[in-house]
Amino acid sequence: MKKETVRIGVVGLGGRGSGMLGLLAEVPGVICPAVCDRVPERAAHGVEVVKECDGYAGYEVRSYTDYKEMFAKETLDAVMISTTWITHAEIAVAAMRAGMHAAIEVGGAASIEECWQMVRASEETGKFCMLLENCCYDRKEMALFKMVKEGLFGEVVHCEGGYRHDLRDEISLGRENIHGRLYNFQNRNGELYPTHQLGPICKLLDINRKNRMLTVCSVASKAVGLREWNKKNKGEDYDLSSYPFTQGDIVTSIIKCAHGETIVLTHDCSLPRPYCRDYVIQGTKGIFKEATERELRIALEGVTENTHTFEDFNNYIEKYEHPLWREYRTDGVKAGHGGMDWLVLCAFAEAVQEDAEPPIDVYDTAAWMAITCLSEQSVAMGGMPVPIPDFTNGKWIDRAPFRRSKFCVNAVCEEYFDNTEEAK
Ligand SMILES: NC(=O)c1ccc[n+]([C@@H]2O[C@H](COP(=O)([O-])OP(=O)(O)OC[C@H]3O[C@@H](n4cnc5c(N)ncnc54)[C@H](O)[C@@H]3O)[C@@H](O)[C@H]2O)c1
Repeated sequence: MKKETVRIGVVGLGGRGSGMLGLLAEVPGVICPAVCDRVPERAAHGVEVVKECDGYAGYEVRSYTDYKEMFAKETLDAVMISTTWITHAEIAVAAMRAGMHAAIEVGGAASIEECWQMVRASEETGKFCMLLENCCYDRKEMALFKMVKEGLFGEVVHCEGGYRHDLRDEISLGRENIHGRLYNFQNRNGELYPTHQLGPICKLLDINRKNRMLTVCSVASKAVGLREWNKKNKGEDYDLSSYPFTQGDIVTSIIKCAHGETIVLTHDCSLPRPYCRDYVIQGTKGIFKEATERELRIALEGVTENTHTFEDFNNYIEKYEHPLWREYRTDGVKAGHGGMDWLVLCAFAEAVQEDAEPPIDVYDTAAWMAITCLSEQSVAMGGMPVPIPDFTNGKWIDRAPFRRSKFCVNAVCEEYFDNTEEAK
C-alpha cells in the first residue's frame, strides 16, 4: 500500500546535494528529517535548506557528520547520496543493509567489485538502488524515447553521447572548494562520467532487458587543458600548473551491444568549449543529432520533408511530447537543469512511497557506472576491448516485467496520464 509520507535522509551536501535536498524536501509526501556531510558547516547548512523549503511543515531535522551514525540512529525509508564518485557505492550498500532504499547521484564506479556489492546488497535486502540519472527525464530525451518506442526511427543501429562540459575551474579549484573531481583527474584516465548520455541510450536500447552491453574500447588523448588553465589563472609557479594530470582531455569509448548496436561516448571536461551532450540516435528510418545544446537536428522518413536535409527538432518536440512532460508543462516546470531534476526526484520518491522497483534499478545503476572503471582498463591497454559484466546473471534474456508507472523509462505508460484531447 502506498505510504502517504516517507522519510528520506540525505548524505553529501556540496553544491549538488544541497540543491537536490532543497527540491526533494518539496516533493509532496516527502520529509527530510536527517542530513549528513562530513564537513560540519555543510551538515548544519543542510538543516537550514530543509527549513527554508516551500511547505516545510515544522518537523525536526537533525544533522550528522558520520553517515553510519545517522543510519544507526534514524528511522528512514530511504537515503539520497550525493557525495563523491568513489564513495557513492559504499554508502548505498551501507544504506540498503541498514534497511533503507538508496538513490545515488551520478558518477562512475571505481571498481567492478563495488558494482557487484550494490547488486548483492539490493538482491539480499530487497531494497532498491536507483541512479538519479536526471537526463533520462529531460524533455528532449523523453520525446525521443517516445519516438523510438513508436518505431519512428525504425531499428536503432547506433547512438552517441557525450559529457562535453568545460569544468576547468571547478576541477582545478577542488581543494579550495572541497570538491571531489580534482583527485580523479590527477590520478585516473578513462570515461569518468558516462551516465548522462549512456543512461537514456541504454533505456532506448533495452539494455538489461533483452539486450546488454558486451564490450568497451576506450582511447584517451593527451592531458594538457588543466595545466594550461592553471598557468593562465594561477601563474607558472602554482603546483597544478606543472602537475602531470593523468586524465586525457578527450576520452572516446566505443561500446558494442548484444544485438549489434554501437554506442560512442565522449568525455570532454578540460578544454574550452560550450556545453553539449552530443546526443545522436541513428536508425533505419533516419537520424537525430544534437549539434549544440540548442541546435537539435532531425531527418526522419515519414516525419521530416526528406532524409537528405536536417530540420530543426524544436519544431517537432511538441508533437511528440512525452505525456509526463505534457503534464509537467501544464502544471508548471520546476527549477533544476531545465526541470529534469524535479522529475527524477519525483520518480525516486514515488518508488519509495510504493516500496517498489524504481524506473532505474540496481542492474542499470551497476552496468552504467561500470563503464568508468572498465574504460580505465581499456585506456591502460591502448584501447583493447574489455568485457562488460552481466550484472543480471543471465536474466536479461528473460526478466520479470518492469513495473509500469508514470515515471517509467522502460516504456511510455500512457494509462497513467489524462489522454483526452483537452489535456493534449
Ligand atoms: N545529475 C547532475 O546533473 C549533477 C550535477 C552536479 C553534480 N552531480 C553529481 O553529484 C555528486 C556531488 O556533486 P558535488 O558537485 O556536490 O560534489 P562535491 O565534491 O562538491 O560535494 C560532495 C560532498 O560530499 C561530502 N562527502 C564526501 N564523502 C562523504 C562521506 N563519506 N560522508 C559524508 N559526506 C561526504 C563532501 O564533504 C562534500 O560536501 C557528484 O557525484 C556529481 O558528479 C550531478
